[in-house]
Amino acid sequence: MSDRTPIIAGNWKMHRDHLEAIQLVQKLAYHLQADDYEGQEVVVCPPFVSLRSVQTLLQSDKLPIALGAQTCHAEDEGAFTGETSAPMLARLDVKYVIAGHSERRALFGETDDVVNAKLKAIQRHGMRPILCVGETLEEREAGRAVEVVVEQLRGSLAGVTLKDAADLVVAYEPVWAIGTGRTATSDDAQELCSAVRGELGELFGQAIAAGTRIQYGGSVKPGNIRELMGQPDVDGALVGGASLSSEDFALIVAHRR
Ligand code: PGA
Repeated sequence: MSDRTPIIAGNWKMHRDHLEAIQLVQKLAYHLQADDYEGQEVVVCPPFVSLRSVQTLLQSDKLPIALGAQTCHAEDEGAFTGETSAPMLARLDVKYVIAGHSERRALFGETDDVVNAKLKAIQRHGMRPILCVGETLEEREAGRAVEVVVEQLRGSLAGVTLKDAADLVVAYEPVWAIGTGRTATSDDAQELCSAVRGELGELFGQAIAAGTRIQYGGSVKPGNIRELMGQPDVDGALVGGASLSSEDFALIVAHRR
């Protein structure tokens, strides 16, 4: 038996200003009932400029929603114009930071080495990384999905200690399913999430592997969350587009109702 508390996280990407962010969280809280939060973690990852506003709202209204960030810099401080560091995020009570999202990898040139350095910065400052891995359509069609994901895990997790590995969340997000409306079948999601767990076992041993939460991400919607969450190795979801609608995200969070 494992104690993998399911985790549903909304990745807002570059959407919503800070006033809209407050409204979105208020509406989300309105749609959710106390039971919906029970036995699972709910996380929202707004853009940097909204973190402070959302943090204040979550605290003042005592909402059981954790704050997440979408990335951070690997260094604690320095001449890195435009960047935001892990200690700055930790001061805002950010609990989770996404590392290695495929958009960061593809559009901002983040290699596994960069992701690895960021992941260590996140952990150094007491936050938990949500490490994203996933294959492109071309890689999937070439039958290389598992190989690619394993390689990303090895590169991104190099030198991570056993103690730190215990705080990790991994999001399996096939690139071809992100923002496309094309979700992986629940069997495909299960196969790859199970492969992720297998590799975590190789890297950190069975106890860590059995306790690590693995999310599926890629066009998660109210209509497919239940089936995805029914898979034995799927412990949560990283939700992009649908997390921008308070109704849809609430339905996703409330999938057990
Ligand atoms: P999507 O994005 O739900 O819009 O496909 C998921 C993600 O990029 O995390």
